[in-house]
Amino acid sequence: MLSTLSRCLRGAGRRARAASSRHLTTSARTAEIIAREARHGASNYAPLPVALARGEGAVVWDVDDKRYYDFLSAYSAVNQGHCHPRIVQALTSQAHTLTLTSRAFYNTELGEYEEYATQLFGFDKLLPMNTGVEGGETANKMARKWGYMRKGIPQNEARIIFCENNFWGRTLSAVSSSTDPTAYTNYGPFMPGYDIIPFNDLAALEEACKDQRVAAFMVEPIQGEAGVVVPDEGYLRGVRDVCSRHNVLFIADEVQTGLARTGRRLACDHEDVKPDILILGKALSGGVLPVSACLANDEVMGCITPGTHGSTYGGNPLACRVAMAALEVMEEEKLAERAHHLGKLLRSELSKIPSDAVTTVRGKGLMNAVVIAPGLDAWQVCLRLAENGLLAKPTHGDIIRLAPPLVISEEQLLECADIIKRTIQSM
Ligand SMILES: Cc1ncc(COP(=O)(O)O)c(C=O)c1O
Repeated sequence: MLSTLSRCLRGAGRRARAASSRHLTTSARTAEIIAREARHGASNYAPLPVALARGEGAVVWDVDDKRYYDFLSAYSAVNQGHCHPRIVQALTSQAHTLTLTSRAFYNTELGEYEEYATQLFGFDKLLPMNTGVEGGETANKMARKWGYMRKGIPQNEARIIFCENNFWGRTLSAVSSSTDPTAYTNYGPFMPGYDIIPFNDLAALEEACKDQRVAAFMVEPIQGEAGVVVPDEGYLRGVRDVCSRHNVLFIADEVQTGLARTGRRLACDHEDVKPDILILGKALSGGVLPVSACLANDEVMGCITPGTHGSTYGGNPLACRVAMAALEVMEEEKLAERAHHLGKLLRSELSKIPSDAVTTVRGKGLMNAVVIAPGLDAWQVCLRLAENGLLAKPTHGDIIRLAPPLVISEEQLLECADIIKRTIQSM
């Protein structure tokens, strides 16, 4: 037992030293934090060697009080900025009043939140859940039920179509629809009834929807984890049209693209389309606790009856109060307009980087990515960015996602564009 523990500690020490040697300024305190996580935690992430202690707006500080701009925003959960005072106020005041009742009883907050959110997004009903992936699971269940109860699909034959390189979380259903071997390998057997087509391919969707057993097509309006892949203009309108003609539900996974991130309240708003099921998560709480939801009209939501779906925490008063505050901040601080304007500015600044360093700059609003030229290593670029006071994370080897909190000021954004340009060019 003792020898196992000491082996484990030695291993953790080696990993911490390896991590710190890749980051010139890693302090003893940071190395200690990394080593402790390595000793006691599962290694299911590979974080940059930076240990954060506090955050405010678009800025975070590490344990040594070094200041960074946050260009990940917790994968777009912190659209409203770190520790937004109004959201924190909603959290703390409700925490003193009533936090969890379960859905065995009514509570004072849920109905008000449902009314507010359904009116804001233009749907009849909302079903509250917690994490983004639970929102996706809920949408899949709703679509299958609708398929059997309304479309007349024979029992247990319903199919749902997804796109290559989709990402909607880590449950068995989510990895069953994944085309990324890192996400699905060794997790079989997989959920049946899922079909995969290329993203941004309306002809493939049309063909797939001809199967009468297809209940739904689930898609991210912009593929986030795939590296901010923006489809052609008109794709979402085309999706709406194909789904309507074939009596297939259009499920928009706006867990990452929604809530002002792309420069509109929803990414679907860019093409004035309304999905049959809208999934929201992440920034629905402004980053203070897990809150997700599915929104749909009565024809679909009516398929859900007492006992057929639920969650102990879903719709808890604390989450409802926080979600209302997070949505109010999005509206009142005009975060969508800010994201639209600042996104254009960021892309125009980044496109000044020579193409031998950055081959592509893409995105919408403040959901952006740069593709690093061959010969440069995205992980090394991110380490150097961190040294220069900006946190971003590489994805798929050569892509760096750039998605700051939407409350970032124009002055801060220009400073960040300068850090990115200088850093990449210095390499
Ligand atoms: C588009 C999309 N859907 C769903 C999820 C899953 O959200 P969560 O990690 O909260 O389960 C993510 C997470 O990155 C996402 O990007």
